Amino acid sequence: MSKKEYTVGFEIIGTGRAVPPKRITNDELAKTLDTNDEWIRSHTGIGARHIADEHTACSDLAVEAARNALSWAIECHACAEKTLEELALTVDMVIVCSSTADYFCCPATACIVQNAIGAKNAGAMDVVDACSSFIYGLETGAGLLSVNKDRRRALVIGAEVLSRFVDWTDRGTCVLFGDGAGAVLLEKTDSSKGLLRTILGADGSGAEHLVMKRGGSRNPFKQGDTVETPPHIEMNGRAVYNFAVSAVTETITSLLKAENLTIEDIALIVPHQANARIVQAAAKRLNIPEEKFFLNIEEYANTSAASIPIALDEINRSGALHSGDLIICVGFGAGLSYGGNLIRW
Ligand code: UT7
Repeated sequence: MSKKEYTVGFEIIGTGRAVPPKRITNDELAKTLDTNDEWIRSHTGIGARHIADEHTACSDLAVEAARNALSWAIECHACAEKTLEELALTVDMVIVCSSTADYFCCPATACIVQNAIGAKNAGAMDVVDACSSFIYGLETGAGLLSVNKDRRRALVIGAEVLSRFVDWTDRGTCVLFGDGAGAVLLEKTDSSKGLLRTILGADGSGAEHLVMKRGGSRNPFKQGDTVETPPHIEMNGRAVYNFAVSAVTETITSLLKAENLTIEDIALIVPHQANARIVQAAAKRLNIPEEKFFLNIEEYANTSAASIPIALDEINRSGALHSGDLIICVGFGAGLSYGGNLIRW
């Protein structure tokens, strides 16, 4: 008698995204900044970015993306629950992956989202690991579902309002970033679909290469300080670029090796959208056709923790993936941190 194989899968049963309507092209930026469309496109692949209005915070985008993911699960995954309210009550964990939380220090943005969507039975926490946060968040979600038999569903959301934390006079950074959110609903199932393996890594020796220096316990604001420039991201672009190309290359190689796969087994690679040139360089090193990588950076720029779940929602809604397809998500960023998820769709 053959041995029964019991598989616990962490399947993505819904995806959603939220992108602010205000869209700023490179040409529009160039009206107030010493830059131009040609430089930005040729150095990054970015054509535009979406920017939140002054009333919109991280949780607002996260809530919209989460509701869209729940709606997808109801409409397209044949959930037993037929309304957003019913489905939200079945969510066991709300995880918000972000470096641009609603509030500095506390509360966790996930608590605000949990309340807004009516996930009354869910625990809530934030995952903060810059642009790698969603990769870490997906593994966190699956881990939290796996350790407790009573937990079945986790909402994992990447949401950022980076426009509040860039120096709009620094052309080396401000042209790169945009705002947005993406969400997935993870469900623990007895199937071979979903998150198969995650690789996580970090090299903290590069912490200074991408950092927001003001406001934390190392460099807090003190009474009487005058704030000439609001807290903003500072980056050694070249150092991060080199790290990123290696991180993408090594993560993909390690995931394939760990599962005894070849690149031909993979339908699509969904990289963090930081710079199209990083993807092109990694594709060349790995000898993978560039078309295997999904890119939407031209429209959204770098939305940090939101970039991969926004991409996943676009891909899902476009119908480009078939049930059973293997995909790899790969992220990297400040920390320096990196990671990848191998997922069976
Ligand atoms: O998601 C987090 C992870 N972040 C990343 O992955 C970012 C990784 N780094 C990069 O993507 C690239 O390093 C950048 C896009 C940030 C910069 O590209 P680069 O080819 O490394 O340019 P650079 O910083 O070496 O600058 C080259 C030139 C400089 O002028 P000079 O000194 O050669 O005269 C810059 O002042 O380009 C100039 N420059 C610009 N010119 C027009 C820098 N930014 C701009 C700009 N418009 N926006």
